[in-house]
Amino acid sequence: MELHIVCIPGDGIGPEIVSEAKKVLQKVAGQYGHTLILKDVLMGGASIDAYGVPLTDETIAQAKAADAVLMGSIGGDPNTSPWYRLAPDKRPEAGLLKIRKSLNLFANLRPAYLYPQLAAACPLKEDISKAGFDMLIMRELTGGLYFGERKTTVENGVRRAVDTLTYDENEIRRIAIKGFEIARKRRHKVTSVDKANVLDSSRLWREVVNQVAKDYPDVTLEHMLVDNCAMQLVRNPAQFDVILTENMFGDILSDEASMVTGSIGMLASASLNDTRFGLYEPSHGSAPDIAGRNLANPIATILSAAMMLRYSFDLDREADEIEQAVRQVLQEGYRTGDIMSEGCTQVSCSKMGDLIADRIGA
Ligand code: IPM
Ligand code: MG
Repeated sequence: MELHIVCIPGDGIGPEIVSEAKKVLQKVAGQYGHTLILKDVLMGGASIDAYGVPLTDETIAQAKAADAVLMGSIGGDPNTSPWYRLAPDKRPEAGLLKIRKSLNLFANLRPAYLYPQLAAACPLKEDISKAGFDMLIMRELTGGLYFGERKTTVENGVRRAVDTLTYDENEIRRIAIKGFEIARKRRHKVTSVDKANVLDSSRLWREVVNQVAKDYPDVTLEHMLVDNCAMQLVRNPAQFDVILTENMFGDILSDEASMVTGSIGMLASASLNDTRFGLYEPSHGSAPDIAGRNLANPIATILSAAMMLRYSFDLDREADEIEQAVRQVLQEGYRTGDIMSEGCTQVSCSKMGDLIADRIGA
């Protein structure tokens, strides 16, 4: 099979971690007789430096023409990087929001899983973490507050800023369907998270989710208010299977969920539209403080590549092989700095990539 993949190395540690994911993809492609056609494009700060904008139309067209996009990370340190002296819609993050919207990537899947080998890194008390947890946040990604109208005005010398949170029922329905579908492949439970005690958009969200649930009688649905959910994530994360939520709540809760795993450097994500096309990226950011030093953890990006094989190419066996190689390397005690613990062997970003690639087909 030919796999046409556009790669966005991006900024900060992005180029280093994407290189390792490519290494692993090459290995698995060789093993199973696939041909990889990889093309690097610029986005975020790297694109600002080259073209003056965080995402060009040409890059969007190239991404659209591919089967999938593999991304590293974008953005820099807002306190020191010149990118943050530009207008907000010219900054690196604007490129990410624009590519999500342009490719209609409305469904963002963020699994958060406690690796048994890394249980010691979990910041929760042992009596909570010992149950283990394995959840998936299904975040709506192209609507809500991040895409609503916004403006800043000055009235009578007083500055005033407005952001708007809008959802229509079709946007809610399509993400709810994705949530229920994925729950069917997991433990058949959906927790829909909203703020229906205050927001109209949340009340509509709840109604539409209840309607969709009727088509999934085999899936248990519960509703939870977002503030309670933030608390439950640290009190009893084992209760969650699929968390279905709107854009901003999902942004915040997915950072919290990844933190409770103790290993944000391990968590992959997929952003999907209604076709098999997807953009795959680690859940973590560009870590400018360690960029270019071969210290980053490439595992989240490598696991994002595995998600890509699974969701965009239907190559489950190949995806399993990568995930198994990651588990094996962890089992053997290899760790990058972020997940290092006593008695383990600390390795660089590129060495971690080599080790995982070596375990494929071994
Ligand atoms: C994320 C990031 C982005 C978001 C930022 C960089 C715009 O935080 O992917 O979670 O909020 O979606
Ligand atoms: Mg975020």
